[in-house]
Amino acid sequence: TASLPLKGKHVMITAGPTYEAIDPVRFIGNHSSGKMGYEIARVAANLGAQVTLISGPTHLQISEDHINLIKVVSAQNMYDAAMANFEAADVVIAAAAVADYKPESVADQKIKKAEETLTIRLTKNQDILRSLGERKQHQKLIGFALETNNELENAKAKLKKKNLDFVVLNSLQDKGAGFQSETNKVSFVFQDEVKSFGLKPKSEVAKDILNEIISLFDE
Ligand code: PMT
Repeated sequence: TASLPLKGKHVMITAGPTYEAIDPVRFIGNHSSGKMGYEIARVAANLGAQVTLISGPTHLQISEDHINLIKVVSAQNMYDAAMANFEAADVVIAAAAVADYKPESVADQKIKKAEETLTIRLTKNQDILRSLGERKQHQKLIGFALETNNELENAKAKLKKKNLDFVVLNSLQDKGAGFQSETNKVSFVFQDEVKSFGLKPKSEVAKDILNEIISLFDE
């Protein structure tokens, strides 16, 4: 129906940061609060979707009906959860800030303070979205790109490499955009088209994203 345009659709969303353990008390993380992904989950549920929200560690809560919250910690956890739920999904929106690298090994004990310098060797994490792109069948796949420079060029590279329907580009150059804030400023990047939006609450950005996806289904 018009008021529930996503009724019958399964939307999978990744949100928040990942934590990559260094030792039992320390990790490598990032500044993602999870707000962008959680707002998308709320709006999708309100539009009638069945939502699977795969979330890294955040302080946020969500209690809407039709949202299945899967809490994860590391990129590997997020990868496993995303793979397990991909087949059932009609739409995937990857708003998480996934660590690209993790410590090669996790120390069993707390690392003691000793030398002046300490080296932690990192190894690449799997790219969740790229792996989903390789397995894509009927699904619509939407990625984010968080950039600091060469924004459009980098976003277009991600669109192609990860086999996406479009990329939601946000830039750390824009005030009030990206991590933590209640607002965001985004552009939707397609291969031959870019749609740019003004600064607005993340809840409104979420509506714009889902409306764009709904129009993809109508095509
Ligand atoms: O959580 P908030 O505080 O509200 O902030 C929102 C946000 C800035 C985190 C969000 O809007 C955002 O931009 N998320 C993506 C951040 C990011 O890591 O971008 P990226 O350019 O490194 O990654 C590109 C895409 O690949 C993203 O969709 C990412 O989820 C995905 N990815 C990246 C690496 C990886 N190993 N697996 C992935 O799935």
